[in-house]
Amino acid sequence: MARTKRVGILTAGGDSPGLNAAIRGLGKAAIGRHRMEVVGFRDGFRGLADDRRVRLGGTGLSGILTVGGTILGTSRDKPHKMAVDGQVVDRTAEIVRAYERAGLEALVCIGGGGTQRSALRLARAGLNIVTLPKTIDNDVAVTDATIGFATALEIATEAIDRLHSTAHSHHRIIVAEVMGHRAGWLALGAGLAGGADVILIPEIPYNVETVAEAIRRRSHHGTNFSIVAVAEGAREREDAAAYRAAEARVGAARDAEEKAVAVAALAALEAAHLGNTLRLAHRLEELTGLESRVTILGYVQRGGTPSPLDRLLATRLGDAGAELVASRAFSVMVAARGDGTEPVRLDRVAGKRKVVPPDHTWVAAARHVGTCLGD
Ligand code: F6P
Repeated sequence: MARTKRVGILTAGGDSPGLNAAIRGLGKAAIGRHRMEVVGFRDGFRGLADDRRVRLGGTGLSGILTVGGTILGTSRDKPHKMAVDGQVVDRTAEIVRAYERAGLEALVCIGGGGTQRSALRLARAGLNIVTLPKTIDNDVAVTDATIGFATALEIATEAIDRLHSTAHSHHRIIVAEVMGHRAGWLALGAGLAGGADVILIPEIPYNVETVAEAIRRRSHHGTNFSIVAVAEGAREREDAAAYRAAEARVGAARDAEEKAVAVAALAALEAAHLGNTLRLAHRLEELTGLESRVTILGYVQRGGTPSPLDRLLATRLGDAGAELVASRAFSVMVAARGDGTEPVRLDRVAGKRKVVPPDHTWVAAARHVGTCLGD
């Protein structure tokens, strides 16, 4: 009799609403439709290297559809660079052994850009890999959507809605910081949906004078309050140039030593910009004479119940992932494509990022309704 195929699942990177819906969708389809067994690994690639397994079957997959976070836990650990007892070590070989010990037919990794890169490494090390795209940042390449973005968009939009009434009452500028270090989908989407007066995103470096002028113009027309939606990675023009140069140095590094120096320089630059939103509010107060306040939405955007759209997306990507494992189509990510899904080779996804194109319809719409984008 043929052995029952066993599929492993892990969640890696920052959590996002809908991860449990994806685990459930994949697990239920794998068990119910394809007659497979499902095991989970705790805390991303670290739990896989440690072989910390959880059996996912029977009731293990029930009652989790609407639950936020991930029942498996997650971490940002990478297979080839994991901190162990104060040392950074390559645990790829341990992962391969854990995979074989578990008797896996395939491993499904649910994660964002970093996870896609790690998954490609494991595929190259000989593992059968399928991935699903998740991140509230919506910046995974070659997929229309990522699990968690729709929920985060709702949360951030509601926050901007609520900030309107208090900004209006006090005649203040409220600068709302939205997540997104490298991509501005969330700030742009929530800013547009919430009617922010200014939207600042990493893809469009801003000039603080331009922002102040837009706010002053509103005051001249009798509107003494403004909402500024700013992505955490938005930068002033000069800073953006320095940042691009530092990133280019990382990309151009010729050996590990050069890369380590370039990465450290980039990290130092990022650290220096941590207070950007507070500095921006302060500058706007100086330049406009209006009192300014900051609201950092932070991890609220990643927490809690997934929206119906994220539950749907997670369920259909999970279902398609199980189908790919059953048909032995590996080294692919399940991309969302319109109402359907499409397997995309991992080497087309890993190392790429989907950022907001300058001619995107959301950018155009924001400009057409008079929103200042800071440029
Ligand atoms: O990748 C999603 C994200 O939420 C980013 O927007 C944010 O910058 C980052 O994760 C922060 O995550 P953590 O503090 O968990 O590493």
